Amino acid sequence: MKLFIDTANTKLIKELSELNIIDGVTTNPSLMAKEGIKDEACDDHYVRICNLLNGPVSAEVIATDFAGMLKEALVLAKLHENIVVKIPMTKSGIQTIHKLSTKGIQTNCTLVFSSAQALLAAKAGATYVSPFIGRLEDINEDGLGLIKSIRTIFDNYGFKTQILAASIRTPNHLIKCAELGADVVTAPYSIINELFNHSLTTKGLEQFLADHAALNG
Ligand code: E4P
Repeated sequence: MKLFIDTANTKLIKELSELNIIDGVTTNPSLMAKEGIKDEACDDHYVRICNLLNGPVSAEVIATDFAGMLKEALVLAKLHENIVVKIPMTKSGIQTIHKLSTKGIQTNCTLVFSSAQALLAAKAGATYVSPFIGRLEDINEDGLGLIKSIRTIFDNYGFKTQILAASIRTPNHLIKCAELGADVVTAPYSIINELFNHSLTTKGLEQFLADHAALNG
């Protein structure tokens, strides 16, 4: 399973990239805003991110109509070979994804909340489809069940679209998505950081060092 970091913060991306544990990056307009990146600085920022690791970097369009999304997508795709154009799950979005797939441009269909939407994205030729687990659970719906359902559908028909589980709120979400066969999980830095921890590791290391110090002074 591939692990992406869900952030536009270059310091955090650099830190995890240097540990060789992340395979790519996802951003969205909210994450770009969080870093204070205004429209005129977006392209440079995406290139900066691409230069921090060798893997896909999702950059989202802002336009919502077909012509506007296509225009933005073509500019984004030219920024760097690792850019994946993130397109929202709408009729115009699906039309744009299809057009981009015929041009060999990688796409990530975002804001996916049902298997039906995932099926449409796969039929349009999306490279990735992003079901949002946490936001579904926020409204008491079964986010992990959605991953399972999409996995079954894609396997039934041999769709090549990769399932990119998004909106991850806990380490357990991440592990369950791995069990369910998500191709990729994108998670915030805080969740990836938690993956390192176990109380028995901390306790065990303290004991090893104490025993060593007792003998060696
Ligand atoms: C996915 O690509 C999105 O950027 C992200 O995972 C959304 O997560 P959120 O629901 O925590 O905002």
